[in-house]
Amino acid sequence: MAKVVVLSGAGISAESGLSTFRESDGLWAQYSVDDICTAGCLISNREQTIEFYDKRRTELSDKEPNHAHKVLAHLKNRYKDDLAIITQNVDNLFEKAGIEPDNLVHLHGELTKVECESCNHIYDIGYNKLSEVNGGKCVACGSDQVRPYIVMFGEMAPQYETLDKEIQDCSLLVVIGTSGMVVGVNTMAHFIEHSILNNLAPSEAINDSYFDKVFYDKVTNVIDEIAYEIEDRLIEGR
Ligand code: APR
Ligand code: ZN
Repeated sequence: MAKVVVLSGAGISAESGLSTFRESDGLWAQYSVDDICTAGCLISNREQTIEFYDKRRTELSDKEPNHAHKVLAHLKNRYKDDLAIITQNVDNLFEKAGIEPDNLVHLHGELTKVECESCNHIYDIGYNKLSEVNGGKCVACGSDQVRPYIVMFGEMAPQYETLDKEIQDCSLLVVIGTSGMVVGVNTMAHFIEHSILNNLAPSEAINDSYFDKVFYDKVTNVIDEIAYEIEDRLIEGR
């Protein structure tokens, strides 16, 4: 189990040009969650759902990791097993910053991947539209029941078990760029010995009094100070 867990959300990728969800200009201000991110929408509203993820996938092609992704990638590659990087994000900016895919946990899926609902094969289609790879048919079994590899509301999120395991005996929880509306962070912060919160502004779903240190600022402005706290804990082995 890691000594330090970093849990991130859409805010860590905002300065790389990717939309968050619940801010005034966020995705959920432009699209209805029920239409394109809720269990069953691939049956009731398949075309618009596929189009939504195709658009986000193709937009990802020219996005670059920002200073925060790079600092955390450096720390992850230096302190491998003692530092867990767990993200709610489906973008690949941590991977572009140098974290090996196996060393990163995506709680809600990955935008560049698709999944066959007939044979459960999961494969990477890069920044292509789903229909542009093998005519939208599964590369393994030929089925046309291929979907974005994204966890929608109301669907199983198997990687939550990994998060639960990783926080079991960590001594520092770092929460960056999430409103806490989906993955609740209050209980974690309340019970974990030390905790740091970084958002742009207070969130109604997060009780920041549970955190030892709170930074309401852009993550790229504060990540170096946060990294110092992480490294201090990892070096001390505390
Ligand atoms: N630096 C730090 N924090 C930032 C920045 C920034 N530059 N920009 C935005 N933030 C913070 C905001 O203050 C906000 O608290 O990022 C948070 C974004 O919150 P949401 O838009 O709710 O995104 P997130 O918490 O990741 O959503 C969780 O909801 O819809 C689902 O599956 C989706 O994974 C997503 C989940
Ligand atoms: Zn298949």
